[in-house]
Amino acid sequence: MDPPPGPRLIPGLLLLLLASCPAALAWKRDEFRNCNQTPFCKRARTRAPHSLDAPLSLDAGSLYVTPDGSLTAVLSHPSRLRPLLLRLSALPPHVVRLQIDEDYSANPPPHRRFQVPDVLLSDVEARTLHLSEPKTAGAVSTLALSSDLDVVVKHDPFELTVRRAGSGDPVLSFNSHGLFDFEPLQESKPEGETWEEHFRSHTDTRPRGPQSITFDVSFHGADFVYGLPEHGSTSLALRPTRGPGVEESEPYRLFNLDVFEYLHESPFGLYGSIPFMIAHGDGASSGFFWLNAAEMQIDVLAPGWDGATSTENGRIDTLWMAEAGVVDAFFFVGSEPKDVIKQYISVTGKPSMPQQFAVAYHQCRWNYRDEEDVAGVDSGFDEHDIPYDVLWLDIEHTDGKRYFTWDHSAFPNPEEMQRKISDKGRKMVTIVDPHIKRDSSFHLHEEATAKGYYVKDAGGKDFDGWCWPGASSYPDMLNPEIREWWVDKFSYQSYKGSTPMLYIWNDMNEPSVFNGPEVTMPRDAIHYGDVEHRELHNAYGYYFHMATADGLLKRGEGKDRPFVLSRAFFAGSQRYGAVWTGDNSADWDHLKSSIPMVLTLGLTGMTFSGADVGGFFGNPEPDLLVRWYQVGAFYPFFRGHAHHDTKRREPWLFGERRTALMREAIHMRYSLLPYYYTLFREASLTGVPVMRPLWLEFPDDKETYNNGEAFMVGPSLLAQGIYEDGQKSVSVYLPGKELWYDLRDGSPYKGSVSHKLEVAEDSIPSFQRAGTIVPRKDRFRRSSTQMVDDPYTLVIALNSSSAAEGELYVDDGKSYDFEQGAFIHRRFVFADNKSKEGYC
Ligand code: NOJ
Repeated sequence: MDPPPGPRLIPGLLLLLLASCPAALAWKRDEFRNCNQTPFCKRARTRAPHSLDAPLSLDAGSLYVTPDGSLTAVLSHPSRLRPLLLRLSALPPHVVRLQIDEDYSANPPPHRRFQVPDVLLSDVEARTLHLSEPKTAGAVSTLALSSDLDVVVKHDPFELTVRRAGSGDPVLSFNSHGLFDFEPLQESKPEGETWEEHFRSHTDTRPRGPQSITFDVSFHGADFVYGLPEHGSTSLALRPTRGPGVEESEPYRLFNLDVFEYLHESPFGLYGSIPFMIAHGDGASSGFFWLNAAEMQIDVLAPGWDGATSTENGRIDTLWMAEAGVVDAFFFVGSEPKDVIKQYISVTGKPSMPQQFAVAYHQCRWNYRDEEDVAGVDSGFDEHDIPYDVLWLDIEHTDGKRYFTWDHSAFPNPEEMQRKISDKGRKMVTIVDPHIKRDSSFHLHEEATAKGYYVKDAGGKDFDGWCWPGASSYPDMLNPEIREWWVDKFSYQSYKGSTPMLYIWNDMNEPSVFNGPEVTMPRDAIHYGDVEHRELHNAYGYYFHMATADGLLKRGEGKDRPFVLSRAFFAGSQRYGAVWTGDNSADWDHLKSSIPMVLTLGLTGMTFSGADVGGFFGNPEPDLLVRWYQVGAFYPFFRGHAHHDTKRREPWLFGERRTALMREAIHMRYSLLPYYYTLFREASLTGVPVMRPLWLEFPDDKETYNNGEAFMVGPSLLAQGIYEDGQKSVSVYLPGKELWYDLRDGSPYKGSVSHKLEVAEDSIPSFQRAGTIVPRKDRFRRSSTQMVDDPYTLVIALNSSSAAEGELYVDDGKSYDFEQGAFIHRRFVFADNKSKEGYC
């Protein structure tokens, strides 16, 4: 729970006030800026296409292929202070990179623009192709990238199009609508001009003045666009935000924020930001990624938005606006949507391979009060024959919200407590947030202060904000030295009471600052290298997650795979661990929006994600809780969690029948653990997510393109949530030509048909696709670790040719020995009435 910003109340009193005032418990639109209150967004959004007095043009004489094989050129914009430098490069397969920054040799400003480091893989430059000279005819240069792809650059006005070389069909284009604008950094503030911006009681001093960037990107041959987490939405495809038929909408905002009681349906930004969009249509898939960590706003434009009466069939125009940074953009051209994900992963990194336990069920609550409570919950699972793997401790386990410490009266023997849990093969997780209590007797604060490790405010002092512990400061995670320091805080010597079975939860790392503008850090705060917070904001949580994961890695001498759950994220966070969708509410709408939200995270690299099962705020109706377990058992990250003002909701508290239903849902997940683990292996190699939109498996089936209610788990299973109270029947579309078999009783259902099904109490509709083999383990134990030696069951669903195939990946479930080949990865094929096994 994250209270709205306000006066410095003591936390206890604040909670009391909120509890006694239910009306205050709703999303407060006024606390967050909308586009009209954000000058760069308002300006960019109201600009008409091709309306700039002096449009951007490329100086043909400057075109040059550099010795490293990329193409450079000068872009001029007569009304601007200094020219822009363009660099175009390409990576195999089918990735085009466009970089644009100012040419600082003329009129150098006091600061350079920020280019986000540490996100792109370090070998991206080394993998860059050597481009050949472009062919220039008149005012157009064409650059061949491969036998089937080229880039056409129009000089004046500047426009770039990535095309299929054979057909000449455009796939992606940049600045086709002449909306590119780039506010150059100024040497000093012109007389009489003010750069300050005000929002509510906050002033942003903006000492470096305007520096926003805007451009348009068009996706050709696209029926829908997807991606750009994180927003609440029941729609998988991104709905248009402007143009005919759109009443009034904000653009999709990417600005990491701690949003109290977020709406299940809204383009406002939530905890994490990934500026990556995927387009898909009949026979074409493409993607666009802008590496920029400043506030971004993106419009999806409905056909006719520009007043044009006819629009090229299947073209989706989008407008991208950022407050600062540079253009460092990637165009991905796939023939299949999975190719586009692989291309994105090839620049931002592969999802890390989780430990086996992390893929099982997690039990959390704010808070399990003390050691007795922990022991009671732990044995409750055993008494009710419900497996679980991880018990979580929220902020109250600490000594006064000083992370890395324990409340000694509630948790006098943390090591002993962890040992008892681990005797059953289970683990624990504690929370470590980035706000450090400003308490001179707290060693972490003492050290950080003495070493000058905190983010600075605009006046150069340690930034002092308000969060759970009261007055707090925030380590400057951009600085590699500070990250190294943080890494060591996880050693057993430093984190007293921690043991090898304790893993970590990073929360509030947007960062959340209760009394800051929009509940976060002021944009004019200063980081390492004189970087303004506005330039880095969306990546702060990424760095914090990175340093924590590295801490666990070092603690285990590089042998134990870390598990760190983070609330904030950015492009590349998939390399460091899992994320969840934050503080959702215990209502049917939030259950429904959890599917498009988790699917969207998966499409943008963050496959290890889930929503709080049961809903964080409020008390779920028991039937909703059961349905949530049935849906949540399919999330890649499966955790029950609840706010401290809610009633206890361990799965055995709602009568025998419901206990049985929740047990069955959790059992189903445990039996599918071998399949999930195999899918995580695939994700860690390719980025193709564990939980997938239907169209990722059936890219030619238009019926699937905007289905956000059903989902695939890997290539073999399909499930459809039940999102309404008392729902009696549900219509489920099963794609493809083959049959589907009901997971409960094996009944067959035809493909390419929408089936109206009676809703069953004991599960949500779920099916195995004919032609697949799913590995399972069907003996139920207390935890996943206790299932290690259990036999496998292969469930073979034959297709119309009486054939089926599937895979199984097995390793030790915890170490990195698999990198040295210590794993088994088998492909099973059933054909001609025989089963065969082979290596993958
Ligand atoms: C906010 C998080 O989103 C929530 O999951 C957590 O329980 C509270 N902070 C308290 O730490």
